Amino acid sequence: MSEQATTVLLISGPNLNLLGDREPEIYGSETLDVHVATATRAAERNGLTLNHIQSNHEGELIEAIQQARHSAGSIVINAGAFSHTSWAIHDALKSFDGPVVELHLSNPAAREEFRHLSVIAPVADGTVAGFGNLGYDLAIDAVARLLKQK
Ligand code: DQA
Repeated sequence: MSEQATTVLLISGPNLNLLGDREPEIYGSETLDVHVATATRAAERNGLTLNHIQSNHEGELIEAIQQARHSAGSIVINAGAFSHTSWAIHDALKSFDGPVVELHLSNPAAREEFRHLSVIAPVADGTVAGFGNLGYDLAIDAVARLLKQK
């Protein structure tokens, strides 16, 4: 596989920079750095390289997805609250050819009504939700398996 094909882009959306501090009873006490370290180890275990970007800005997330068309073979995305609203992120992901896994720390389906709709889900191969830090392992393993199936 080429360098692009073996690169996984992990995208973290708004407010995920506050993990550790933010509603730990829902999101856990781990910081985003801890989750990125878990994802990095999972990628290495699968012979992949992880790149990570976090932004609170929708446009920056869209630009990262557009750039990934030329620099990454797969995407794992926790778009935070944009998961429920951003048709622009939906459209950007639609233009990406490789595997896409949607990721959430919490289980949005078991929370407030407004979190039940994901506009990312229809353009993802699948969703990992509700497993906290373990989800980062599962999501990277999922893209690794999808890449092997290709
Ligand atoms: C989240 C769930 C979203 O509903 C919320 O807006 C987030 C985090 C999660 O990881 O559980 O910011 O994506």
